[in-house]
Amino acid sequence: MPKKIIIDTDPGVDDSMAILFAFASREVEVVGLTTIFGNVDTALATQNALRLVEFAGHPEVPVAHGADKPLYVPLEGIAGFVHGVDGLGNTHRPAPKGQPLGKPAAQFIVDMIMANKGEITLVPVGPLTNLALALALEPRIVEHVAEVVIMGGAATVNGNVNPAAEANIIHDPHAADLVFNAGWPVTMVGLDVTTKTTMTEEYLASLKANGSKTGTFIWEISRFYEDFHYQMTQERAIHTHDPSAIAYVIDPTLFKTEKGPIRVATEGITKGQTLMDRWQIWYGATEWSNRPAVNVCVDVDSPRLLALYKERILAAP
Ligand code: BDR
Ligand code: CA
Repeated sequence: MPKKIIIDTDPGVDDSMAILFAFASREVEVVGLTTIFGNVDTALATQNALRLVEFAGHPEVPVAHGADKPLYVPLEGIAGFVHGVDGLGNTHRPAPKGQPLGKPAAQFIVDMIMANKGEITLVPVGPLTNLALALALEPRIVEHVAEVVIMGGAATVNGNVNPAAEANIIHDPHAADLVFNAGWPVTMVGLDVTTKTTMTEEYLASLKANGSKTGTFIWEISRFYEDFHYQMTQERAIHTHDPSAIAYVIDPTLFKTEKGPIRVATEGITKGQTLMDRWQIWYGATEWSNRPAVNVCVDVDSPRLLALYKERILAAP
């Protein structure tokens, strides 16, 4: 049985790459996309999510519009300089034909979990505001969700917005702290692993080698994103952020994990930092021992992940 997943997303170049990977993989069934600000504002994230379900040949998959701003901090740092002003590498795709659902993302998440108890895996690959709002609407979702697989945070390495913080977490640190500490089964797929797996320009070109429509789309939207990475690293290669969360859902054996509580700093120079209590691994109980343990990805078999991604994209319709 495929896992039913809801991808909570701010598409976004790597979000798009993750969504197309999920649609191309038999191990998962995408039962909805919910949208959030981050790489673009939420209105554009919703338009892009509609574009993506239509491009993937799944216009029946519902798209629910999410929160337009974080819980407490101001909305800032929309990443047009990373993903293009259209979120799709400035490729300026035609407008979608479909419309979002008539209910907000948080309500959609609650309704889906409560109607499919034990079956829904949430895969947030953007800021965590919608999940925090869903927890407030219906706290019992913690008992009925199958799993929450988050792309975000950094437990053993520096952030990517500043030394402390990863982008998805700093956008709404209060929401992230609630989500990491709600007591549901959380896996964090953070920069610890997503920056270890790089897709070179050559690899990205190989995704369109057989004339694949999906591979060609990924090549086109990733040109701007690759230029951004080149400015940062002087390498023609991109980090594999959001597709890594989908890879974890498909095949967790790709990753090595450690367990421990995670707290999120909400102010000061460490705002957005995901601090993992690794003391427990070495010394036993600490003052954070009453916090829920998060399953944190600390290493990845990158060649195997890249082979899986390529296999699925080349086989996509
Ligand atoms: C995360 O931030 C966004 O720019 C990406 O889509 C990814 O979800 C990486 O820090
Ligand atoms: Ca994202």
